[in-house]
Amino acid sequence: GPGNRARLLAANSAAEEWFVEQLTTPEAEVGRRFLGERGFDAEAARHFGVGFAPKSWESLTRHLRGKGFTTEELAASGLVSQGDRGVYDRFRGRLIWPIRDVTGQTVGFGARKLLEDDPGPKYLNTPETAVYHKAQVLYGLDLAKREISKTHRVVVVEGYTDVMACHLAGVTTAIATCGTAFGVDHIKVLRRVLGDDSADGEVVFTFDGDAAGQKAAMRAFAEERRFAAQTFVAVAPDGLDPCDLRLARGDAAVRSLVDTRTPMFEFVIRHTLARFDLETVEGRVAALRAAAPVVAEIRDASLRPGYTRELARMLGMELDEVTRAVRAAG
Ligand code: CTP
Ligand code: MN
Ligand code: MN
Ligand code: MN
Ligand code: MN
Repeated sequence: GPGNRARLLAANSAAEEWFVEQLTTPEAEVGRRFLGERGFDAEAARHFGVGFAPKSWESLTRHLRGKGFTTEELAASGLVSQGDRGVYDRFRGRLIWPIRDVTGQTVGFGARKLLEDDPGPKYLNTPETAVYHKAQVLYGLDLAKREISKTHRVVVVEGYTDVMACHLAGVTTAIATCGTAFGVDHIKVLRRVLGDDSADGEVVFTFDGDAAGQKAAMRAFAEERRFAAQTFVAVAPDGLDPCDLRLARGDAAVRSLVDTRTPMFEFVIRHTLARFDLETVEGRVAALRAAAPVVAEIRDASLRPGYTRELARMLGMELDEVTRAVRAAG
């Protein structure tokens, strides 16, 4: 049928090749400039298979039909959209990142608009298809998997450009979700590659240094217990993301960002306390109520007393009182 996996993968592969060719056309100058301004040269673009979709409504559709793909197959691949008057190219006037599964097969695409005034959202992705499941997709995993398996370390970033920047800076264990929150299905995929059956591994969440990135880190905390590995958070300074950081301060800054990570629990406790006014008794009591469950979550019993002491210190409260609150929350 039209949803046949092999046919969809073949369509993706033909499309990828075509997108890469398009990046060399005069129209793609805007795309090449974007890459250059992000610190990515032609060699980097080639390494990640970055391509370009022209503004046309039907160039890719025509190209793939010429290669023998049926309208039904193209619709099932998510490469074209269905309108009232037939099908048309889904990605137009955008830079294209092929998204590959762990075996290196291209299962879908991420596409960024290039001009502020262009229509649609900043990023557009392949919709859910027989081979693209956004809840499971981790961008860069095909390139990072060997190093992740070998080192039992993984760096989770937000975006395509962040993965590129990290790899070019030497952080070759970086991967990203593709515009969805890091969830249970991502963890299942990742645990297999990580060999996550003992606590010798490390997962470092390196989200953007803005409010959205902090929120993403707090959400990741909800899934923390699903890893046997130790979990950490690294937040870039001045609201930057790893790609911006590399541009502003170079490769070494990206490497040291990942190295100066904070244990997940410490990050979450600090983030939790920041919501309260610790100058008042009411504020401290409310802060303790909010933070005690976080400390109670800590599975490693040898770490819990240390965090309890740390929390008491941060709150300026008696250790006994904080210990009782943690026990009550556990
Ligand atoms: N994303 C998405 N749809 C959006 C915005 C973001 O799918 N409308 C996804 C993309 O995978 C993007 C990631 O979320 O790479 C992180 O978002 P953001 O930080 O906004 O994008 P950047 O990658 O930093 O993009 P840029 O630097 O080009 O603005
Ligand atoms: Mn090991
Ligand atoms: Mn962001
Ligand atoms: Mn960015
Ligand atoms: Mn970003």
